[in-house]
Formats: sequence, structure tokens, C-alpha cells
Amino acid sequence: MGNNDKNHDDGPDNLKGETRRDFIKKAGMVAASGVALTSLATSAGVSLASPLDKNANLPPEDKPLKGRTALISGAARGIGLAMAVRLAQDGANIAMLDIASPYALSDIISYPLSSKQDLEQAVNLVKQQGVKAIPLIADVRDRAQMLSATNRAAQILGGIDIVIANAGISNGTGFENESDKIFKGIMDVNVAGVANTIHPAVPYLEKSKFGGKVIAISSVAGRRGVSQLASYSASKWAVIGLVKSLALDLGDKNITVNAIAPTAVKTVMWHGEKSSDAMKNLSNAAMELFVKSYHSLPTGSIHPEEIANAAAFLVSDNARYISGTTLDVNAGWSGQMTG
Ligand SMILES: NC(=O)c1ccc[n+]([C@@H]2O[C@H](COP(=O)([O-])OP(=O)(O)OC[C@H]3O[C@@H](n4cnc5c(N)ncnc54)[C@H](O)[C@@H]3O)[C@@H](O)[C@H]2O)c1
Repeated sequence: MGNNDKNHDDGPDNLKGETRRDFIKKAGMVAASGVALTSLATSAGVSLASPLDKNANLPPEDKPLKGRTALISGAARGIGLAMAVRLAQDGANIAMLDIASPYALSDIISYPLSSKQDLEQAVNLVKQQGVKAIPLIADVRDRAQMLSATNRAAQILGGIDIVIANAGISNGTGFENESDKIFKGIMDVNVAGVANTIHPAVPYLEKSKFGGKVIAISSVAGRRGVSQLASYSASKWAVIGLVKSLALDLGDKNITVNAIAPTAVKTVMWHGEKSSDAMKNLSNAAMELFVKSYHSLPTGSIHPEEIANAAAFLVSDNARYISGTTLDVNAGWSGQMTG
């Protein structure tokens, strides 16, 4: 199957009564029979320079986010790191917050989180873009830790203009087999963690001379139901509820609040889901076939830089009157949704 084929008759939403589980089984069989698919990047990180970012080459004084500071949670790798690099290329100083403890949530998820070394390397990468960057180690589940980390960032970097609540986890055990602990653990990181990231930053955002900007990372799973991912999906719908309500609450402080809802992105989390019951028997190629079947554009999972580009727009002056919205970055999957 070539990249430009749009074989949607096989897609899960046209299954004529088949379940997603049936589709996954079928996808596994198709892949096993040697169908050529888009190759899957195995690297968990981001490529070091986004080819789409022209602002990286501007002189510092002309960069669109010059003089601004962004605090990003989950910044040690994946989408968080890509956004940190992208906003740094646009001239922002970055406070890079992460739990930096690979096995801190090993009773809830089956893949490791970032390490201190990952965070250090990520900070160095961002500094190479010519801005200030600092590491902050904190667990987004803990409001007190987040308050202290936020105050520290504001003190060192001279305020906070942008907050991106990105840290999140996923577990594909499936609702019927999922323990109460896993359900609550996902809600704790993905919902309370987003609130805990935004709440301590509001006093700084309202003082921003540029207008405060908040982004929370939802998911395509926050735009529709997803079999085997009920708790993750519920948490990502909750993020959008939070964003819409905060857009109302914080508008008079000149703070915009928006969500980004990505499709599958090539990160540790996406590959980590391979260990879930639904995905564990799938090859990488079958996973690509699976996700590609939902997209109208000719791609499987996408690179973190695509999400970073959307974030760069939402925090820019060009988006000053966009608030309470969700920007879908999903290769055309939106065409199948009513929202
Ligand atoms: N990768 C995808 O396919 C995809 C798709 C849609 C949405 N998302 C969302 O994008 C966001 C980033 O995901 P990713 O794919 O880059 O994941 P990732 O696992 O690669 O990176 C997440 C980062 O968050 C950190 N983190 C996790 N729990 C934390 C906690 N309690 N406190 C502080 N830091 C913590 C991790 O250490 C890691 O560095 C998540 O909210 C995720 O739900 C991802």
C-alpha cells in the first residue's frame, strides 16, 4: 500500500459491525503478510531542528516570542521537548518541568518516564537555540511541588507569560481489566496535573505585558470515544472542559486558554501503548496501518514538531483573540467527527 492510498474501506469507522478489536486483529494479519507501510521511527525523541520553523534563523531581536518566558510540563522528551525547542527558536526562555523519575508511576503505566539525564539533555538542547532554559523537577500531581517550581521559574526567568500543561500518561489495559488505582492514577496526572500546572501560574500570567497564554494538551481521544482507552479518553475530554471553563474565567485577565488535540505522535508514550492488551501483539507496521486508517491525509503517526508548530501559533500574537478552542492536529481525522 503506497503512502497516497486512502483505503478507508478498511478503516475502523466503516467496519460494518466489526469491533476495534477485530480491526486490530485484521491489521496484525495484514502487516504479518508483508504489506509495505510507512516506516516507523523508533526514536523516542524529536529531530533537532524542525524544517518548518523559519524563525530559528531570525536575529534574536526579531524573534516573535522575544522577552517571554514559557513553563512547559513533561518537557524532558516527546511533545513537551519539541514545543520547548520550537518556542525557544521563536525566542522564548523556557522553564522545563518534568518528574524526571523513570519508575515513579510504574504501578500505573507500563513504560518508563524520563530520567534526570533526559531532562538535562533536553535543557541543553533548548539552550543551544540561544535562550535561557532551566530544569524544574516536580510531579504535576502535587500542587505544592508545582507552586514551588512555578515560583522558582518566575524568580529565575523574570515572570511567566506562557504555560503549557503537557505532561500526561496513558494505559491501554482496557476498562474491564483496569484497577481503581490505574483509573485514579490516570486522572491524577492527566486532569489534576493540568489544573496543578495552570493554577500556580495564573498570578504571573495576569501580569504578562504580552497577555498570558495557556495551552493544555488533550488528544484525539478527547474528541471521540476510544475502545480500550476509556480512562485516558475520559481524562482528555476533561482537559477540554477545563480549558473551556478557564477561557471564561481568565479572559478578563487578558489570558487565553486553549487545547491541542493530537493524533498519534511518535513518542515513548505512543510506543509504550504497545504493551497494552489491545496493542501488544501488533508490530510497529500494524500500529501504523491502524492509525493511518483513521487519517484522511496520507500519513500514519506524526512527528512531535507538528504539535509544536500548533503550539507556537497559539502562543503567538497572531492568536490573541483565540481562546476556549481546541486545535486538532490529526491529519484529517476531524472529518469523521462532529465537534
Ligand atoms: N504520543 C501520542 O500519540 C499522543 C497523542 C495525543 C496526545 N498526547 C498527549 O501529549 C502529551 C505528551 O505526550 P508524549 O507522547 O510526549 O509522552 P511521553 O511519555 O513521551 O512524555 C511525557 C513526559 O511527561 C513526563 N511526565 C509524566 N508524568 C509526569 C508527572 N506526574 N509529573 C511531571 N512530569 C511527568 C514524563 O517524564 C515525560 O518526560 C500527553 O499529555 C499525552 O497524553 C500524546
